[in-house]
Amino acid sequence: MSIGPVVVSTRGTLDAALAPARAQGLTVALVPTMGALHDGHLALVARARDLADVVVVSIFVNPTQFGAGEDLDRYPRTFDADLEKLSRAGADVVYHPEVTEMYPEGPGAVGVNVDPGPLGSELEGAVRPTHFRGVLTVVAKLFGLARPDFAVFGEKDYQQLVLIRQMVRTLCLPVVVVGCATVREDDGLALSSRNRYLDNAQRELAVSLSRALRAGADAGPSGAVAVLDAAQKAFGEADGVDVDYLTLRAADLTDPLPGQEARLLVAARLGSTRLIDNVAVSLGADKDT
Ligand code: PAF
Repeated sequence: MSIGPVVVSTRGTLDAALAPARAQGLTVALVPTMGALHDGHLALVARARDLADVVVVSIFVNPTQFGAGEDLDRYPRTFDADLEKLSRAGADVVYHPEVTEMYPEGPGAVGVNVDPGPLGSELEGAVRPTHFRGVLTVVAKLFGLARPDFAVFGEKDYQQLVLIRQMVRTLCLPVVVVGCATVREDDGLALSSRNRYLDNAQRELAVSLSRALRAGADAGPSGAVAVLDAAQKAFGEADGVDVDYLTLRAADLTDPLPGQEARLLVAARLGSTRLIDNVAVSLGADKDT
């Protein structure tokens, strides 16, 4: 019988929970989350289980990555259900701090934050200007607290993953960042904690994001113009979906080059819900018309 993960909420109790493993030289993998866990998160936990001896999952709805007017207050908080899922998934430690633990001076305090650089103002950052500063700052704190050997993130938040890799490289942080493929519903919709905001009609429309990405990826061998054409055509039929961006980038989110792995990314609003998704594209050269 599993007794479930140890739940801790302070730096001291997290240290104490990990001390025996550290003393034995065991490896630790961290899965940072904001809770409202779904199968996508559980796939990250499974990957963490494969990578390391001890799996820590953090559950913290980080206020500094939400802008004014975003969904911080209504963001789903489902701790008991999350804990049950983590128990079944085999997490060892759940770190569930209060806001005051993570931000003793208050989340709005002027202080040291991680600057995401130019990429932090593009794509998601163009619409959410302080988002990645908040994400990178809290992830850096979590790395400092849990001192993991590995940290596992989903590819669904692709720009986040690229920026976290950049942060780890630039700041020489001693952690290996591992990305995991997006988990999807049967019809292709990427799993997201925000899908629960969608009403039935919006849920039906939401599949247009992954459908457009798939159409774009299929056109990859014919070049960048064909990719974007195919994706836009697939979107053309979806009324009620307000596309923020649909763009093709290199895997590191610089300009895409033929012959290389690229990434097709989309963000769209359905009512008040903003969804993002992306896929890998094997990009050929543009064909002459
Ligand atoms: O991807 C998320 O859930 C969050 O952005 C993260 C990485 C847990 C930081 O708050």
